[in-house]
Amino acid sequence: MIPESKQALLDWFDVYQREMPWRLTKDPYAIWVSEMMLQQTQVVTATPYWLRWMERFPNVASLASAPLDDVLMHWQGLGYYARARNMHKAAAVVLTKNSGVFPTSYDDLLALPGVGPYTAAAVSSISSDAHQAVVDANVIRVLCRHEGIEDNPKLPAVQVQLQTIADANLDDARPGDFNQAMMELGATLCTPKSPACERCPIGNDCIAKQNGQPEQYPLPIDKPKAIRRTDVILIPFCDGKTYTQQLPHDGLWGGLYSFPRATVMEDASAVETVERLAKELLGDHKGHVVELGRLRHAVTVYSVELIAFVVHAPEVSACDEAWKSLADIDTYPMPNPQAKLWAKHKQVLMSERLPVSQPALEL
Ligand code: ADE
Repeated sequence: MIPESKQALLDWFDVYQREMPWRLTKDPYAIWVSEMMLQQTQVVTATPYWLRWMERFPNVASLASAPLDDVLMHWQGLGYYARARNMHKAAAVVLTKNSGVFPTSYDDLLALPGVGPYTAAAVSSISSDAHQAVVDANVIRVLCRHEGIEDNPKLPAVQVQLQTIADANLDDARPGDFNQAMMELGATLCTPKSPACERCPIGNDCIAKQNGQPEQYPLPIDKPKAIRRTDVILIPFCDGKTYTQQLPHDGLWGGLYSFPRATVMEDASAVETVERLAKELLGDHKGHVVELGRLRHAVTVYSVELIAFVVHAPEVSACDEAWKSLADIDTYPMPNPQAKLWAKHKQVLMSERLPVSQPALEL
């Protein structure tokens, strides 16, 4: 990138950068929280999460001493929960190994659980102007266009090439701002489908702009088609309580609380599957299983139709601690699709009035 473009990019950033609350601080902890949230999430979505998080866990010590449930609760809805679990672990590491002082150097950051080269570069450069270039999806698009790179950016050799170019471009005086300006450019002007080249501060030496077809970079990667699947959840009621169980920490939605859930196999129907769940939980106890609602959501390679059923079990002897009061259930972190179905139908359920239009099914 020619020096004039570098300066123009910084000038543009100074004028047009979006307001983000974490841009008002140099606190590496606060910046780390923002960068962890922004990894798979847009700024508008992440902002209220960041504000709530910083109010509840204003520093690394408060995060380290919080129960994991509380941490997951503050992450609920952001997805990829391993990030929150790793942040909890990282906070404990900072407390024990670094006397509670949050690191600012690239290498120390990289040693923390859940921190990869992207996050280490972002946090070290933004909080303390370390000379570390950030390469995220937005920067990849900007660089592929600017340098006219036609190869697949997922290829390891191309990734090395992109990192080398990003390192060489990085502004010596303001590396943190330069990194943010590159990301900001990709998020706001150099967008995937309709880049606003006429307003671009680095258009003077941009190869894609000169070619006239900037949206053709980077090479589109064929995404495998999502595999369709149907899952059921059973929301049981007994004596003003419902049942959720904590999922294993090492799996999908690890540490969150789930209603009994199963995937509908080819040789069974959704009703048969949920009936089996009800039998496993309630034994031969009779209750009406009624469909409550459904929604479609994406998870890993699947497009899942999630169908919620509700069952009223008049008496269940095994009302152990997995049965939680309806008032308490909202204090447990839950996978977002379940939380959405639960939130939508809670009113009906709380008043113990089941939807009447669907056929009831005798177990
Ligand atoms: N994406 C992730 N972190 C960012 C930042 N600090 N500024 C702009 N976009 C970002």
